[in-house]
Amino acid sequence: MKNSISPEIKKEIEALVKELNYHSYQYYVLDSPVISDAEYDREYRRLKDLEEKYDYILPDSPTRRVGAPPLEKFDKVAHSEPMLSLDNAFSYDELREFDKRAKKLLGSPDEIIYTVEPKYDGLAIELIYKNGSLVRAATRGDGYTGEDVTRNIKTIKSVPLKIEGPSEIPDEIDIRGEIYMNISEFEKLNRQREENGDQIFANPRNAAAGSIRQLDSAVTAARRLHLACYGAAGVKEMPAYSHFEFIEWLRKAKFPVPAKLKIVKGMEEAIEAVSGLEAQRQSFPFDIDGAVIKINDFLLQQKLGSRTREPRWAIAYKFKAQQGTTVIMDIKGGVGRTGVITPYAIFKPVRIGGVTVSRSTLHNWEEINRKDIRVGDTVVVERAGDVIPHVISVNKELRTGRELPVMAPEKCPACGSAVTKEEGEVAVKCVSLHCPAQLQEKLIHFASRGGMEIEGLGEKNIRLLCDRGLVRHFEDIYKLTKQDLLHLPRFAEKSAQNLISAIEKSKRVSLARFLFAIGILHVGEYASKVLAANFRKLEDLYHVTPEKVLGIKQMGEKIAGSVSAFFNDEKNVGLLDSMLKLGITISNPDYAKEKTRPGPLEGLSFVITGTLPVPRKEVETLIEKNGGHTTSAVSSSTSYLLAGDGPGSKLSKAKALGVRIISYDELLRMIRGEASQQSLF
Ligand code: IVH
Repeated sequence: MKNSISPEIKKEIEALVKELNYHSYQYYVLDSPVISDAEYDREYRRLKDLEEKYDYILPDSPTRRVGAPPLEKFDKVAHSEPMLSLDNAFSYDELREFDKRAKKLLGSPDEIIYTVEPKYDGLAIELIYKNGSLVRAATRGDGYTGEDVTRNIKTIKSVPLKIEGPSEIPDEIDIRGEIYMNISEFEKLNRQREENGDQIFANPRNAAAGSIRQLDSAVTAARRLHLACYGAAGVKEMPAYSHFEFIEWLRKAKFPVPAKLKIVKGMEEAIEAVSGLEAQRQSFPFDIDGAVIKINDFLLQQKLGSRTREPRWAIAYKFKAQQGTTVIMDIKGGVGRTGVITPYAIFKPVRIGGVTVSRSTLHNWEEINRKDIRVGDTVVVERAGDVIPHVISVNKELRTGRELPVMAPEKCPACGSAVTKEEGEVAVKCVSLHCPAQLQEKLIHFASRGGMEIEGLGEKNIRLLCDRGLVRHFEDIYKLTKQDLLHLPRFAEKSAQNLISAIEKSKRVSLARFLFAIGILHVGEYASKVLAANFRKLEDLYHVTPEKVLGIKQMGEKIAGSVSAFFNDEKNVGLLDSMLKLGITISNPDYAKEKTRPGPLEGLSFVITGTLPVPRKEVETLIEKNGGHTTSAVSSSTSYLLAGDGPGSKLSKAKALGVRIISYDELLRMIRGEASQQSLF
């Protein structure tokens, strides 16, 4: 039985909720705390005790933000109105074009009143309020249907659980905005992940998205996420006549709103504001990738309306990739899982766009020669959204004569064995089958997301397990016990159990994924899928002849040779057999998949980067249905890079390799056959 509640206690609880929400707002939205953390904690604890004792919890109590058990999966939420994207402009002239078009469509030469605000590099979110209370929160998804992430969103302290403040509060309103992570928080998170052996996030946007798409809201709660609100939908009558006014309404209703919002007259003034934002870009504690220019007047917005994917009344100006200058301290060779020795530069740490960068890949030794990159050189490096930067140019004027040219290594940096360079290829390789770096890299690939996907078994932990002699090959992973792990640094009861469970979970795998995970030379994701479509089970590949593999249409001699060599090696077959004995269960949903007739994308390979208007899975299916295939990494055999919003480092890699870059619309045109493939090259 709970205690019966007196009016005094009720009053105290209500006052505590009000008080704590006020302090939370001061702290998380306005960034100007009034009381100390310790005082807040004391009041919070007092509230929690009273709530528990009297079973009286108000809907907007701060204690409601945390504590729900993990979900199995996310429910779907249909958006009241589509969540649109924005058209992009890459030059001021494109902004002037936008202005001209808008004036023409509106039938008036009058200067338009615009607002200018930062474009937050995060993920879009919809917060659904009914009668002033937050009832649901959803991700953007494909623009029409998103995922229900209410529990996770509630853990973000700046999200109001109740709308209070303005005189006019619509019965129903969906507030839209962006969830993002500050750069310092992102760097801290990545440092922790590195220590735990988890894969690091490439940029704050991925980190924010990964934190929201968590089945366990306790994980989201532990990440410091932020929100900026910039729009609304699903409302009968907006409580404002213009964007600027609406942002004021949001501010009154205690929502965090875009920083540095400006209202201007005419596009020239807007451009000035945009250039001001770009100049201040570094001073924001978070990543902004551009500025959003919106027509202020809602009536004019309505008049212009929207296209399928974006409104005609707003446009995003994308900032240039961020560059920095630093000095190369050293150039080293890293041995990959196939034995390829790739050069990388170690820089004097430099902050670019708020992120500290200290190394970058240099792709291959010939490129170093071609660009004449030397140790000691001052170089310009560029960060295109991701943490991993690229060397853009060498400042040869700053040379002192003490710079040292580098040569491809003659011995493997990991094991000291001989290296080779295959005819016609640029890659330098270590030939030893027992090179420890290769084994470790093979294991890292095996456990990684594209492979067996063993959560918590990232690079650091693999290296640790190898160093301790606990793991020498794939099969050893499945022999690990909790006791083994408990002897290691960084592992406690819970983390050891989590890893053992993750290993157990990874035992159910598709043949395609398994073949990819074991890292057969030249066999990437696509070739693995093709093999799985043609061999019913793993054992059918044992002792396969090159001729048999060559009989498969999509397979060439190089792959056939290496697949056959791999499965004719008794040691390899023995290893696979013992893995099966250890309980790995391989299904094969790809076997004898109905072959679609040759489609317009027959034989073409695609890599996808950035956010597309529809979910990635759908785009992949679309490409496959039309005869093409997708892979995850850009290489010289990639036919096209399909780039969406906020493309990652793949874009610069594609550019460097001369891979053709297309948009989603261009892909659709290719499928419809509107543009001949030739004309696209
Ligand atoms: S307005 C109908 N304002 O950028 C237009 N979007 O590339 C709705 N974004 O999907 C968007 N900051 O997720 C708007 N200040 C801002 C924004 C912003 C970031 C995101 C938003 C949108 C994407 C388009």
